[in-house]
Amino acid sequence: MSVLVAGGAGYIGSHAVRQLIAAGHAPVVVDSLFRGHRQAVPDGVPFYQHDLTETDALAKLMRQHAIECVIHFAALTYVGESVQQPLLYYANNTAGSISLLRAMQAAGIKRLVFSSTAATYGEPDETPITETCRQRPTNPYGWSKWMVERVLQDQAAADPEFAAVALRYFNVAGCAADGSLGEDHTPETHLIPSILLAALGREKKLTIFGDDYPTPDGTCVRDYIHVDDLCAAHLVAMEALEPGRLEAYNLGIGRGYSVREVFDAAEAVVGRKIPVDAGPRRPGDPAVLYADSTKIQRALGWSPRYTDIESIIATAWSWFQAHPNGYGN
Ligand SMILES: NC(=O)c1ccc[n+]([C@@H]2O[C@H](COP(=O)([O-])OP(=O)(O)OC[C@H]3O[C@@H](n4cnc5c(N)ncnc54)[C@H](O)[C@@H]3O)[C@@H](O)[C@H]2O)c1
Repeated sequence: MSVLVAGGAGYIGSHAVRQLIAAGHAPVVVDSLFRGHRQAVPDGVPFYQHDLTETDALAKLMRQHAIECVIHFAALTYVGESVQQPLLYYANNTAGSISLLRAMQAAGIKRLVFSSTAATYGEPDETPITETCRQRPTNPYGWSKWMVERVLQDQAAADPEFAAVALRYFNVAGCAADGSLGEDHTPETHLIPSILLAALGREKKLTIFGDDYPTPDGTCVRDYIHVDDLCAAHLVAMEALEPGRLEAYNLGIGRGYSVREVFDAAEAVVGRKIPVDAGPRRPGDPAVLYADSTKIQRALGWSPRYTDIESIIATAWSWFQAHPNGYGN
């Protein structure tokens, strides 16, 4: 299938491109490179540096490559930045997605896989979180994604041929197992890369945001899913798209690890102590977030291959050891 990958030069998108190729699909990448890396896109894959807001250019290349499905990863992803610059997030993530949808409409493309997020649930009433839990984001990033889900639901209701799936990711982690493809964010805000960069001496001393939560060791608990397992779910979801509806699936491994457990596992992987201080809580961080992903397991037969945090961290460590400066730009 000819697949347009929006945001395909980013962390998750670049892993998805590799899997699409391995599965015999023909990916085409669009990315503004605002936060992505041209080097993360394999040679031979058509690449276009466009912003999501360039509707006409997107429609043109969709026609040119006879695109059949769009996988949409392109977004800004920092919660803190979204609180400080909400207009940037609604313009980029929400209005940008509408522009992409308009381009799809102009080019007659009816199939979309959308990167949504556990941030659309906000503070959950219960854990594990199922897809029917109330979606009540607590920051503009989460709202910017929730609004796109809403738009997709309405578009599927309006167009019986339009088929979409929203995949609500929990914490995505790890890198290609051979260390050849990885994660390179500036600034780095994710826990596992920050710990590994600290192990390499590239980050200053780390702080745990709150050690007085009502959890066994007082630190926040999150669900970490390996990027390759996550991308595999996109391929099965793409094949299973049903016209006239928006389907939604959670993607996590279904168990949580505390921040301290992640530090312990990372220390075991890298074989040294990683200095860390405990600091105050960050506003808006729920104590415990982990997914119930049985819906996608039952409906599409997907299941994660990486189910323990150490093996996930080990793949990320391969990347960071081989590329201490990331992609180098
Ligand atoms: N990393 C996670 O743990 C996580 C969790 C939940 C959801 N997600 C979602 O997954 C998707 C990918 O996240 P990631 O971690 O790979 O982020 P990333 O920043 O590495 O990748 C996003 C890519 O999109 C591109 N992009 C952003 N805005 C664009 C625009 N307007 N036009 C064109 N390109 C644009 C960036 O340049 C970047 O290459 C995002 O939609 C994010 O919200 C990620």
